[in-house]
Amino acid sequence: MKIDGTPYRSIWVDETDSWSIRIIDQTKLPWALDLVRITDMDTMAHAIKAMLVRGAPLIGASAAYGVALAMRADASDANLANALAVLGETRPTAINLRWALARMQAALQPLRPNARAGAAYAEAAAICDEDVATNKSIGAHGLPLIAARGQNGRRVNILTHCNAGWIATVDWGTALAPIYMAHDSGLNVHVWVEETRPRNQGASLTAWELGKHGVPHTVITDNAGGHMMQRGDVDLVIVGTDRVTRAGDVANKIGTYLKALAARDNGVPFWVALPSTTIDWKISDGLTDIPIEERPASEVTTMTGRALDGSIATVRIVPTSSPAANPAFDVTPARLVSGLITERGLCDANEAALSEMFKDLSAKEASVAKELA
Ligand code: MRU
Repeated sequence: MKIDGTPYRSIWVDETDSWSIRIIDQTKLPWALDLVRITDMDTMAHAIKAMLVRGAPLIGASAAYGVALAMRADASDANLANALAVLGETRPTAINLRWALARMQAALQPLRPNARAGAAYAEAAAICDEDVATNKSIGAHGLPLIAARGQNGRRVNILTHCNAGWIATVDWGTALAPIYMAHDSGLNVHVWVEETRPRNQGASLTAWELGKHGVPHTVITDNAGGHMMQRGDVDLVIVGTDRVTRAGDVANKIGTYLKALAARDNGVPFWVALPSTTIDWKISDGLTDIPIEERPASEVTTMTGRALDGSIATVRIVPTSSPAANPAFDVTPARLVSGLITERGLCDANEAALSEMFKDLSAKEASVAKELA
């Protein structure tokens, strides 16, 4: 997508040094566009953990380039194992991380060490290119959901939570891909952007990227979503996800579940957009089987923003003696999900529909499980 008219991806190989990787430091948005150069695996692992890069598909792509950076430095078996372990520990909930590392391992392990660096960069580039094509396809499949509600110039109000836009992926986004396509095709779309406490990915990232693309939007507090639905001001909800079980349970940013409940109570369709790389075929029950990341309490007790003098300031908003808890994701049971928007089409959120649409992937997973048994 474009930033002030210039096309960008969220991660790319440095133009002047084909071994280094560039990312947009998302902790600096919306106040500064800081294009950081990453030259080693440990720095990439830190970028994922500290959320300079975030969003399930981008976490996977970043980890893939992290392995490539490790192979450039030392392509031994020991260093490959170390890179997979270090990167695998960075964030627990998004399954795309594990998917990308498994793919890198499968591509590199059989090779002689001196062939690994080149192959690793090629594999990471392929993961990125495939992500872009996948998300474009998610956009095309989700577009009719919006178009059906936007006949004759009618405004379509879509509510989204967190950031599942182009900067959460390599390009296009998942939840925002159909919205960009609807806007670009001339439909009258308007997005309710939930701020998404505690890190405010909605207020700082979704609002930023929609604004840069010219998509009409309004930021609301997380608590306002249900009220907007009761008033009839939301036509549909579209969110992204970090992990979907084979039965269709959906993990996404904390607060998503409450929106699904409010949507169900108000008869508002609740759609989840995802690439198939976000499906965890090994698990069925999202509530018991999806690891939920617990992030630092400081994300709850403080807020960071631009002070009136223009400086970036962090202020404490909770009494110093009060502890805080910070579960970063929640699980929306499949029964509350109207449907899934995938790169292969719209799919019901249940095991039969998912395994029918992704027969090849679910069969592959079943045969790996059999081999291991
Ligand atoms: O903690 P984050 O910012 O990585 O969480 C991101 C989300 O929850 C997104 O909705 C999800 O990864 C889908 S991204 C296309």
